[in-house]
Amino acid sequence: MPVPTITWKNDTLIIIDQTQLPVRFVTKKLETVQDVWVAIKELQVRGAPAIGVAAALGVAVGIKNIAAADRGEFDRNCIKIIEYLATSRPTAVNLFWALDRMKKTLENNSGLSVDQIRTALTKEAENIFNEDKAICRQIGLHGNTLIPDQCTILTHCNAGGLATADYGTALGVIYAAHEAGKKVSVYSDETRPLLQGARLTTWELMQSGVDVTLICDNTAAKVMMEHKIDMVIVGADRIAKNGDTANKIGTYMVAIAANAHNIPMYVAAPASTFDLSIESGADIPIEEREAKEVTHGFATQTAPDGVKVYSPAFDVTPARLISGFITEKGIIRPPYDKSITETLLQPASAYEQ
Ligand code: MRU
Repeated sequence: MPVPTITWKNDTLIIIDQTQLPVRFVTKKLETVQDVWVAIKELQVRGAPAIGVAAALGVAVGIKNIAAADRGEFDRNCIKIIEYLATSRPTAVNLFWALDRMKKTLENNSGLSVDQIRTALTKEAENIFNEDKAICRQIGLHGNTLIPDQCTILTHCNAGGLATADYGTALGVIYAAHEAGKKVSVYSDETRPLLQGARLTTWELMQSGVDVTLICDNTAAKVMMEHKIDMVIVGADRIAKNGDTANKIGTYMVAIAANAHNIPMYVAAPASTFDLSIESGADIPIEEREAKEVTHGFATQTAPDGVKVYSPAFDVTPARLISGFITEKGIIRPPYDKSITETLLQPASAYEQ
């Protein structure tokens, strides 16, 4: 990214306000925990890994202002901050994973003073931030091994540098292939209702000089039928133990179309997006968004007043439609019932390169 999606400098959290892109490039300082909560809720900062990083840094922002006489009081306030940030959005498990790391840091360091635990928590948030950058590069390197010298890839939503600390997951693979000199072209679904594909994916690919064509969501099957697509790569918000994958609404439709045309469909995601505590996609909580985002998207009324609206923000693609998961630990292939747990629980060096 020309300017990082998230900046943490001198204990100050600054984000790109993604609701303004691509028309305006605006950065925003998040000065309170409530600012961070609103930024996540309103998708000023969005994408599963970026949400996790923002929440962890949100804790670092919040603890700066805890005026506690002792650890008991500090801990109670810190837990309140963690629990509050956990209510911002329900589907991306990276949010809960990152907040859980913050909570464990608090609990595992009960012997530290108030000042010392403040430093330890801030350091942990910085670790989550920096690790995400390294993880996305690894995902890119692994994913690049799947990309032929010439390849056209369809993607849905935005799983790029804007959705992570840097570089992206699905787009990270595309950047890695592009940097390796491969001729990569991308079709980007516009991604109704909030247009992450049209506003964000095309914007960041164009900034990086990657060839990109914008299509309406309902054009995906047609370009597949026209033999224009070699591969689909998307990101994920939560992946169950059996490989069922929640991602932006419309991903399931893309997966069905890819399957019908024998086009491989890959999901690129860090280990932190896997939720091994749930057996299948049926257990993934799906966020529902306000009717207004559908009826009055970007301040233009496009439906009659009072119309009934159903707007789930995510859907679940069954594991059987997914050719593989591109993770920082390697590429995970079916049968997922075995391979996901095995891969995620082994040291990185043991995985397929
Ligand atoms: O509602 P959003 O914009 O946060 O949804 C984002 C997605 O669905 C992404 O594809 C997913 O989080 C992966 S980001 C690397």
